[in-house]
Amino acid sequence: MSETDWVDWHRAYERPDSGLGARLDAVRAQIERVLDRTAPDPIRVVSACAGDGRDLLGVLAHRPDAARVSAVLLESDAALVARARDAATDLDAEVEVRHTDGGQSDSYDGCVPADLVLLCGIFGNVGDADVRTTVRAAPQLCSPGAPVIWTRHRHDPDLTPSIRQWFAEAGFEEVAFIAPDEDEWSVGVHRLAVAPSPLELGRHWFSFVR
Ligand SMILES: C[S@@+](CC[C@H](N)C(=O)[O-])C[C@H]1O[C@@H](n2cnc3c(N)ncnc32)[C@H](O)[C@@H]1O
Repeated sequence: MSETDWVDWHRAYERPDSGLGARLDAVRAQIERVLDRTAPDPIRVVSACAGDGRDLLGVLAHRPDAARVSAVLLESDAALVARARDAATDLDAEVEVRHTDGGQSDSYDGCVPADLVLLCGIFGNVGDADVRTTVRAAPQLCSPGAPVIWTRHRHDPDLTPSIRQWFAEAGFEEVAFIAPDEDEWSVGVHRLAVAPSPLELGRHWFSFVR
């Protein structure tokens, strides 16, 4: 069980010194790229541990083609679930916000394979073994060729070289790795380059340790 106040954590998005705003811009830019590249086809998105959903929902709010997007957001904090649902209300996109545990494979039943997978704000809050387990399981979330957008801080010891290696071992190609010199956040984009795997129900992938 996570001990962090995640509603309070989201307030850091408003603080310029937090780096979270710049990270959000980078994530949104990658989402925009995927939406531009896949237009005008329908696209299915899944976001694990979505918080208030501001990365995806913020993009969809200004996209004239939002109606081609169907998204499932998974989030365990009831207040953030409510905020995400509220933010999705006026969108043309079809958005479902599941109040559930994103660390359990069962939670993804019926919403994968997705054409875009968001794993943002997870890898810095779970143990290294859980990061590896989640990356290994990522082909179960993806349709053929789907990109995964993920984030991780680069505080010492920097796990991102291992994460990128684990994605490669799981059959992904690196599309982008954004890691600014002036800050410690990073955003990775990896595209599934092998056949997807079927979702294995009953699996535990991660638990937050913060
Ligand atoms: C660091 S925040 C990231 C939120 C969002 N993805 C972002 O980047 O702004 C982590 C989020 O994961 C949620 N969370 C923690 N454990 C979870 C779990 N097992 N299943 C689903 N959500 C979880 C928290 O409530 C929080 O909203």
